[in-house]
Amino acid sequence: MKNFLDDLIIELDKGIKSSLSSRQEYERAYPAESIHEVELNEFEKNHSAGLMRVNHAGEVCAQALYRGQSLTAELKATREQMKRAASEEMDHLAWCNRRLDELGDSPSALNPLWYFMSFSIGVLTGLAGDRWSLGFVEETEKQVVAHLDSHLDQISDKDIKTKTVITKMREDEDAHAKQAKESGASELPDEIKTGMSWIARLMTSTSYHI
Ligand SMILES: [Fe+2]
Ligand SMILES: [Fe+2]
Repeated sequence: MKNFLDDLIIELDKGIKSSLSSRQEYERAYPAESIHEVELNEFEKNHSAGLMRVNHAGEVCAQALYRGQSLTAELKATREQMKRAASEEMDHLAWCNRRLDELGDSPSALNPLWYFMSFSIGVLTGLAGDRWSLGFVEETEKQVVAHLDSHLDQISDKDIKTKTVITKMREDEDAHAKQAKESGASELPDEIKTGMSWIARLMTSTSYHI
């Protein structure tokens, strides 16, 4: 128990510091590096920034969720898979940070709250067992893909930089959902899926503004 508590505190400290800093290192190149910035009108720019703030908050949640799950996963292989996923999501977090910066905007002030909430959910789903934990990942990633699709529809066609970043993230999230399924994810009950989409709605609608 003492070891678990030590791990919990170390993990929370490390995760919060790395996720909430305004800049992270990325291992894979920024997808929009070679694309020229075009002039956007105020509405287009603000809308892109609002949606990227939502995506950034989503990536903070992904860090917290995967790190929380890796702490309580039963099998070593599952723990490693969760840690690897968290490091891939770190690229997304860094790309979102960079795009927000380019758009002259900043991340959500509510991110510490989302981190803590998602970390707790991660620990609990990890305790429920690996198949449920993977089921939770699969469903989360599917919902994220649907969100990213709606963002791609809403963002101005002029804003190719934002669209390029989102398209690459979408590809990765889709792969994460498939990996979770292949690793033995259980299908979650509909009530849980609906609950998850409510939490997501709360998070997206507030992070767009704050
Ligand atoms: Fe992601
Ligand atoms: Fe993902």
